[in-house]
Parts: sequence; structure tokens; C-alpha cells
Amino acid sequence: MKQFSFLLCLLSVIFFTHCEQQIETHLEQFPLIPIANVMEETGSAFFIKDNTVLYFDEQDEDLKRTAIKLKSNWEAQTNNSLLLNEGIPFLHSKIELIKSDFDQEEAYEINIDKKAIVIRASAASGFYRALTSVDQLLRFQKLSSNLNFLPTGVIRDAPKYSYRGAMLDVSRHFFTVEEVKQYIDLLALYKINHLHLHLSDDQGWRIEIKSWPNLTEYGGRSEVGGMTGGFYTQEEYKDLVAYAQDRFITVVPEIDIPGHTNAALASYPELNCNGKTAELYTGIEVGFSTLCVDNEITFQFLDDVIREISAITPGEYFHIGGDESLSTNEEDYIVFINKTQDIVEKYGKNVMGWDEIQSSNIKPNTVAQYWADADNATGALKKGAKVLMSPAKYAYLDMQYDSLSTYGLHWASYISIKRGYDWNPDELVEGITGENIIGVEAPLWSETISNFEELSYLAFPRLLGYAEIGWSKTEQREWDTYQKRLIEHGVLLDSMSIKYYHSPNIPWKK
Ligand code: ACM
Repeated sequence: MKQFSFLLCLLSVIFFTHCEQQIETHLEQFPLIPIANVMEETGSAFFIKDNTVLYFDEQDEDLKRTAIKLKSNWEAQTNNSLLLNEGIPFLHSKIELIKSDFDQEEAYEINIDKKAIVIRASAASGFYRALTSVDQLLRFQKLSSNLNFLPTGVIRDAPKYSYRGAMLDVSRHFFTVEEVKQYIDLLALYKINHLHLHLSDDQGWRIEIKSWPNLTEYGGRSEVGGMTGGFYTQEEYKDLVAYAQDRFITVVPEIDIPGHTNAALASYPELNCNGKTAELYTGIEVGFSTLCVDNEITFQFLDDVIREISAITPGEYFHIGGDESLSTNEEDYIVFINKTQDIVEKYGKNVMGWDEIQSSNIKPNTVAQYWADADNATGALKKGAKVLMSPAKYAYLDMQYDSLSTYGLHWASYISIKRGYDWNPDELVEGITGENIIGVEAPLWSETISNFEELSYLAFPRLLGYAEIGWSKTEQREWDTYQKRLIEHGVLLDSMSIKYYHSPNIPWKK
């Protein structure tokens, strides 16, 4: 019998078919984060070999773009070549990209059987999310030294919320283009699709405005703790936006007004009510600065800033801050937000702002970012706005994990990995349900961090939890099973040299 099967094998080699051993596989046990809506295993293996052929319609730009990305990732992860639409079909295993109808743009399906992997989606963003799942499959197989096959079965997936975001404060401490790109790569791996950049604050102005050059030439020099700030030229910002866009991540720029504006006030005397420039500021207090409502030039300034940034921002949102304007009186605050939203609208963007902006005449297409005040969030809903959920007590990545963890603050709460994961945006605030919410965003304020390693300590692994809250179905989310998957992602993050916080409460693998 043995001889017979050897003979069969030999014959099959001669006739160019395959003769792999039988392998039992378990796709359902794969530690995807975010967990997919449906994973059904069929127990066999798709063997990965050189010269697998990727079939797709070359007339379709979305598919072409997907194919190029898949080829590059597949070859990098597997060290096996992936041929694009060439070769003889019956000789090789194949991967196929097929456009199909789905209710959501980011929805996708991956079917893996012994001979073929078929990936379906209706749009380029859906194919991209599928590729991030394939990427995780390949990476974990590689980590388990099993990267000569993938488990067979089907993955069907779609996001819970259309907006899954991360905010990075590049003002308190500046982060370079390369550091932001590194962050974007990790956001993409976890299916996060918005990067909100907090580009201005008391401590530094971080984006070139050609009509107001001192903002960066002077106001960009400082940061918390000293004078080593920095800024993005418009070309660098465009490069970042394009890099994110290539990963189906939309950049949301924030210029925080009317408070949090000391860097601007230090750059131009005419923006101050007393006509004198403010001093650069390198501390971490809030609430002491305000633009001057009575200076006509203030609104010319805002018009120029919003015009220039909007022109190089393809996404639909412009974030106008509006938080903690403790030095602006209430009447003036309302004037500021009302006028600024008109400017944002004039340049073709929708307003996003921290929850305080609801005290103004916000328009129904506004998004209020709930961070602190539930009454503000429900107030925004009454004006027809939608809410983006970033509750400081659960979703602020800059909160310390516990009293012993190194970086971060704790004014809102200590946020352990479990606390960060174990909440439901649809049930957190009375009066706010899933229909009112566009999604979830995890802000990372940078008072206490100044480089990628420190950023990683606060963002990882908690960011993975927010990615799952934003993507996966509530009924799929459960701490114990999440923790098991997270431990595997600790190994994955190690393999990428990401210095995540090794909470002592989690039994990480060595
Ligand atoms: C905020 O944390 N000041 C929005």
C-alpha cells in the first residue's frame, strides 16, 4: 500500500500535480484581531509554493491595485513568487480576486480551499481589509514555522462602524514623518481607517501655512519640555496623507481653536487682543490661551489656515478642536465656532470638533467627538449631529495603565488593557445608541511621550482593543477569548520590534 501511494505520488509529480501530506488545520482558532464576523474551517491546507498564480481582471483598477499589494506582501512574507495572470492554471495553485456585491464598501470574503484562495469584495477598501487578514494569517503561520500552508475555510467580514480612528497629538511633542508612517502601518494592520492629527496646540504649530509662515518658523520650534519641536511642510503632509490613503486610512487634520492656540499667538502679535506676541510655551497646563474674537484679522487667519489645509486634505472632515477654551467667554466661543464652521463648509469639508462645540449652532452634518461631557454629546445629537466615541475614561491612549506604568497621565482614569477593551460604545451614554455613532477613536496625547518607543508603550497593545471595538460585532467580543488572541499578537508585535506594554496581568508568551 505504501509502495502504491509512493507510486501515485511519483506519478502525480510526473504529471505536475501535488502530493502533500494530509495536515489537520483549524482556521477558526486563528487569532485575528479584529476578530472576523464569520470564520468557518474546513480542516485542510492550501499549500504555499513558488509560482502561485494570482488571477484578476486587469481592466479593473481596484483589482490591479489590490493585486500589486498582495503580490508584494505575499512574496515578502512567504519568500515564494506570486505570478500575476500568467502561467498554466492546472499546474499551479491559484489566488483569485473577484468583484462581488456587498452592503458595505469594506466588507470582504476569503475562501481558502486546497487549490485556491478566492477573495471577494465590492470596492478597493474591502479588498484592502481582506489583505490585512491574509497578512495576519501569513505572519502567524510564519511565527509558528508553518509557512508552507494556510488553513482552509471561509472568512466573511464587515465593520461594525464606518469610522475607526486613532488620534496622534504631534503638537505637545513632535513626531517625524517616518514615525507617523510607522504608526500608520500598524493602524492599517488592525483595520483602522482614520488618522486624526492634532496639528496645533499651545506648545507648537506643526503644519506649514504658506500665507502665515511664522506659525511654523517660530511657533513650530517649541514642544513640551524645551525647544526641539518641528513641523511638516505641506509637501511632507501631502506625502503622509498619500501614504495613509494607500492603506485606506483617511487623515483628519485638527487645528484647535479658539483655545489651545498659544503657538499661533506667539507667532503673530496681531492675533492677540493686546497686540503683543505671547511667549512660546513648553509646559502642560491647558486653558490659558485664546484667539481674539474682536480682531478682524483672526477670521482672515482662520480662513487662510483652513483653506490651505483643506486644499491638501482629500478626506471629508476638518477638525476644529473647540475643547477646554477656558479663557474664551461663552458668547465669544459661540461666535468662534459658528464662524469657523462656515469657513470649513466654504472649503468643502464637514466639521468635526470636541464635544463642547455643541453649545454653538452646529449643523446636522457635524460630528461631535465625545471625550468628557455626556450632556454635550447628547446635546449634539439634539442638533442633528453624529457622535464619535472617544471617552477619556476608556479610550484615551495617554492614560496610564496603572499607577506603576511609566508614561502617561491619569486625570481621567487608569486604563488597563482590559478596561480599554471591555466597554460598549452603544451603551456607554444614556440616550446615545449605535445609530447616533459614526465610530470609535483612540486619542494619544503626547505630553509624556516624545519618540516611537514611548508612543508604542502607550498605544500598544491597547490600540488593538479599540480596533476590535470599532470593527467586530459586540456579541463576538469577550475578554477571555480576546486575551488569548492578544497574547499571540504580543508575539507578532515582538516580531516587528514594537515595544508594547507588557502588562503583568497578562500571561505573555516568552
Ligand atoms: C481633550 O482631551 N482636551 C479633548
